[in-house]
Amino acid sequence: MRTLARAASMQSQALSWRRSGHKIALVPTMGSLHAGHASLITRARKAVGPKGQVVVSIFINPTQFSPTEDLASYPRSERSDITLCKRRGANALFLPRLDEIYPDTNNVPFSTYVTEERLSQSMEGQSRPIHFRGVATVVSILLNIVQPTHAVFGEKDFQQATIVRKLIRDLKFPTRLVVSPTIREPDGLAMSSRNTYLTRRQRPHANILWRCINTARKAVRSRTTALTAPMLKRKLTRMIESTPEAELDYIEFFNPNTLIPLRRIQRSDRIALAVRFGKTRLIDNGKL
Ligand code: PAJ
Repeated sequence: MRTLARAASMQSQALSWRRSGHKIALVPTMGSLHAGHASLITRARKAVGPKGQVVVSIFINPTQFSPTEDLASYPRSERSDITLCKRRGANALFLPRLDEIYPDTNNVPFSTYVTEERLSQSMEGQSRPIHFRGVATVVSILLNIVQPTHAVFGEKDFQQATIVRKLIRDLKFPTRLVVSPTIREPDGLAMSSRNTYLTRRQRPHANILWRCINTARKAVRSRTTALTAPMLKRKLTRMIESTPEAELDYIEFFNPNTLIPLRRIQRSDRIALAVRFGKTRLIDNGKL
């Protein structure tokens, strides 16, 4: 596995792969890699085949964090990340420094951003106003550097994956989006780099998000409850309120294509929610 730190060398390597007919799959991450990320690397290999090139990028992207968020304390584990990428059979690891992604040009700071203006309005976009501008910008930069035929994202961040799909279509990147299922702990908690923030007392309660998703799913599938979003939200809010240390940020039922929150719920819709345990903010989502 090659490790590259420079944007220019990553891009010329990628262009040379493309010229010799290789497929390239990009797995963008912020590091602190876990089994969820590992599953994306395996999915990337499946997308491009044994002769394809799988590139994992690790870059903690400051523009997607607001000043009050956890950029400074975001977990870092470069050594074990490198081992995981090697073991999973990645061909290259792109580990750029901040000024490789956001350089000054002739003494003028980085100043071009990408904003998706519709799908970013709801849910995470409401709770984290500048978040998706940062994601859309860094993903566009990474797509230009790595020139991938495939980009692999996790369903864990469903809104992010939906926005990236739209970005790829709107800006005509010649890249196919692959979305890979959420990997969970045995108790249902979605794997996340931020799970390491949970205290020993909080951890047993952190699968409340998964329990809410299943409760909503059962209600929708059995149709015993009238299926309006406000009623189901009240039920799930009570479940969260009775969970020690848990504090609800949002619960939303939405159409998977438009991400517009709904009142009347159908089986083809999805649920997403965000819950805080102290300073740790967890998100999850699922099909109903
Ligand atoms: P990060 O949180 O490191 O996640 C990188 C990728 O791993 C994302 O596509 C995310 O959806 C996926 N992922 C995380 N947990 C997962 C799980 N339990 N199961 C399956 N996939 C999982 O998402 C980001 O980084 C950043 O926003 C990024 C796209 C890299 C842009 O900075």
